[in-house]
Amino acid sequence: MNSHFIGMMSGTSLDAVDGVLVAFDVAGGSSQLLKRASINLPKLLKEQLTFLAHSETLTFRQLAVAEDGLTRLYADCALQLLADLPKSQQPLAMGCHGQTLEHQPNLVPSYTLQLLNPSLLAELTGKNVIADFRRRDLAAGGQAAPLVPAFHNSVFRSANKDRVIINLGGIANLTFLPALLLSANPQQAVIGFDTGPANLLLDAWFQQHWQLPFDAEGKQAASGQVIPALLNTILANEYFARKPPKSTGRELFNPQQLSSWLASCSGSGEFAAKDVLRTLVEVTAVSLVDQIRMLDPKAIAEVFVCGGGWQNSFLRARIIELASPRPLASTEALGIPPQDVEAAAFAWLAWRHYHNKSGNLPSVTGAKGERVLGGFYPA
Ligand SMILES: Nc1ncnc2c1ncn2[C@@H]1O[C@H](COP(=O)(O)OP(=O)(O)OP(=O)(O)O)[C@@H](O)[C@H]1O
Ligand SMILES: [Mg+2]
Repeated sequence: MNSHFIGMMSGTSLDAVDGVLVAFDVAGGSSQLLKRASINLPKLLKEQLTFLAHSETLTFRQLAVAEDGLTRLYADCALQLLADLPKSQQPLAMGCHGQTLEHQPNLVPSYTLQLLNPSLLAELTGKNVIADFRRRDLAAGGQAAPLVPAFHNSVFRSANKDRVIINLGGIANLTFLPALLLSANPQQAVIGFDTGPANLLLDAWFQQHWQLPFDAEGKQAASGQVIPALLNTILANEYFARKPPKSTGRELFNPQQLSSWLASCSGSGEFAAKDVLRTLVEVTAVSLVDQIRMLDPKAIAEVFVCGGGWQNSFLRARIIELASPRPLASTEALGIPPQDVEAAAFAWLAWRHYHNKSGNLPSVTGAKGERVLGGFYPA
């Protein structure tokens, strides 16, 4: 007997709210994606959220207006998924991530803030909502991120091959799944962490210089040259060498920081915009592949990739080239299209919460123990 859950997500790229309807079997280990919906963030909402994520001063009203707009977008996405659904596929609950405004797991006190009004969402959709997934892990001493490796572990783990799952969102994150039965190192736990920037800096730079949301297929980046000084300056950041558990976001990788990296290595000259873009692709690909290699020095793991960055064919080609001879494919080969994995993870986290099961992996987040994640907002 299957049970159905909706998962909805809007990530650091601030591009869209993505939603999926997923059927889980009793054990939650097998999942079937039944329906997807995606709504682009309207320009005004994107501006409001960008302002909130970077502002030193803001009013409660600004926060409330953006929260209301975002929640109504989540509701529209849910209503698209719910339209014409047979009774047998009605979701028991919807797992909703909300929009991260700030993530500071290493400050004292630590905090992570996801904007969403789950009460309004329950009211607008008439469905149970589960939200606020990250703060319980943080309260238990964890990084509260990444959360998706627990889902990867449940649905993508192989019996006889070590696997790496990569998500190329605003930030790139990596999950290492040792083979269940035939691992080279049977004691090894699942590892997952953010490797650094993916689309976040690329999009910011592209929007600034081309006035378009992103570099479609990486065409402009492909026409540029790597700037070695800039590449080395960015890769020298201590974040890349730090051992997991670790997580990052806009707090470290943002346009202001990029400006200061540029200033520190430009001397008196100006760099061409396409060369900076090309260098940012290289930063993503090199930092990602270096960190895969640190986990898997013998190149035995299979690598599967998801997230919007997989659509960037130039970035994809650079990662494939650098990761060689590891075989790379999209998560489509494992049954979930690359653009749906993150939303499906929140459907799974909702499934876990609904059944009073833990949603975090302490080996990934560093939390003191397993915890049931999220709060429940009845229909
Ligand atoms: N055709 C394309 N060519 C180049 N880049 C693309 C293309 N399609 C999507 N992208 C990139 O993917 C991004 C969206 O990716 P995605 O939705 O996975 O990121 P996200 O919302 O930040 O998610 P998360 O951070 O939760 O993983 C876009 O902002 C863009 O940079
Ligand atoms: Mg997105």
